[in-house]
Amino acid sequence: MEIIDGKKVSTQIKEEIAEEVARLVAEGKKIPHLAAVLVGNDGASETYVANKVKACQAVGIKSTELRYGSDITEEQLLEVIRQLNEDSDIDGFIVQLPLPKHISEEKVLNTIHPDKDVDGFHPCNVGKMVLGLPTYLPATPAGIMELLARYDIDTEGKHCVVVGRSNIVGTPMAVLMSRKAKHANCTVTMCHSRTSNLKEITRQADILIVAIGVPHFITKDMVREGCVVVDVGIHRIPSETTKSGWKLVGDVDFEQVSPLCSYITPVPGGVGPMTIVSLLQNTIKACKAKH
Ligand code: GUN
Repeated sequence: MEIIDGKKVSTQIKEEIAEEVARLVAEGKKIPHLAAVLVGNDGASETYVANKVKACQAVGIKSTELRYGSDITEEQLLEVIRQLNEDSDIDGFIVQLPLPKHISEEKVLNTIHPDKDVDGFHPCNVGKMVLGLPTYLPATPAGIMELLARYDIDTEGKHCVVVGRSNIVGTPMAVLMSRKAKHANCTVTMCHSRTSNLKEITRQADILIVAIGVPHFITKDMVREGCVVVDVGIHRIPSETTKSGWKLVGDVDFEQVSPLCSYITPVPGGVGPMTIVSLLQNTIKACKAKH
C-alpha cells in the first residue's frame, strides 16, 4: 500500500507556481489577483477561505477577501459579483459555498462572468468541461486528476466507481475519469444515496473515489483488494486520543480500508491540499488569458 501524499505534491506544485509568478513579475506582467467572497460565518467555510488566501500569499498571487454578514440580501450579493466582474484588477474570483438559504446559489453562479469563474461552476464552464473544451476545471476534481497523474496511476480501461453526485465533486469527477485521456479512460459508475446495491458496486472498483459527505462511510467489506482509493471527505469527529479532543477523518475508514489498497489518499493531507493548488492554477490561467 502506498500513500498518495497530497501535501507533498501540493507543496511541490506551489513551488512551481511561485516560480511562475516570480517570472511574471520579472517580466513586468500583471500579478494574478484572486478575490474570495465569504458570506456568513460558517466555520468550515471560514477555514477554507483563510487557507485559500494564505496559499495565494505563499506563492505571490494577490488576494482579496470580501466578507459579508448572513443578512446580506441576494440582490446585494449579486451586485458585489457584478462589480467583481467589472473590476479589471481581479483576474478571477470565487463565492464560497454553501450560501445562506435565502440566496439562490444558481443565481449567484450564473452571475459570475465565465472568464473569471476560477471555480469552474458557471453552467458555461461546466458545459465546456463536459465537451472536453478548454475551461476552468473545478478545483477538487482537477486536484484529484493531478494526483493520479503525478503518481502515474494506471487508469486506462479500469472501472472507476464514484460515490457521490454533487455538482462540485462527484459529477465532474465522473466526467473527467471517463474522458479519452491519459490518466482517465475509465469505465465509470456513479453511485449515490439511492444506490440500492452499493457494496456490490464499490467492490468492483479498481479506482474508488468517495465524496459522499459521511464520516467513515466506506468500510473494508466495500473495497476490493488492490483498489486505488481517493477520499474527498473531511470531517471533524470527537477523539479520545488527541489533546484537542477531536480529529479529522474522511469518508473512508482509513484504518480498516488502507491495508487493502494499492494506493490511498489520507485525510488530512490527501485531496484537500490539492484543491487549493488547482484554484491557484486557475487564477494564473485567468490572468494570462487577459494579459
Ligand atoms: N465549498 C466547498 N468546496 C468549494 C469550492 O471548491 N469552491 C467554493 N466556492 N465553495 C466550496
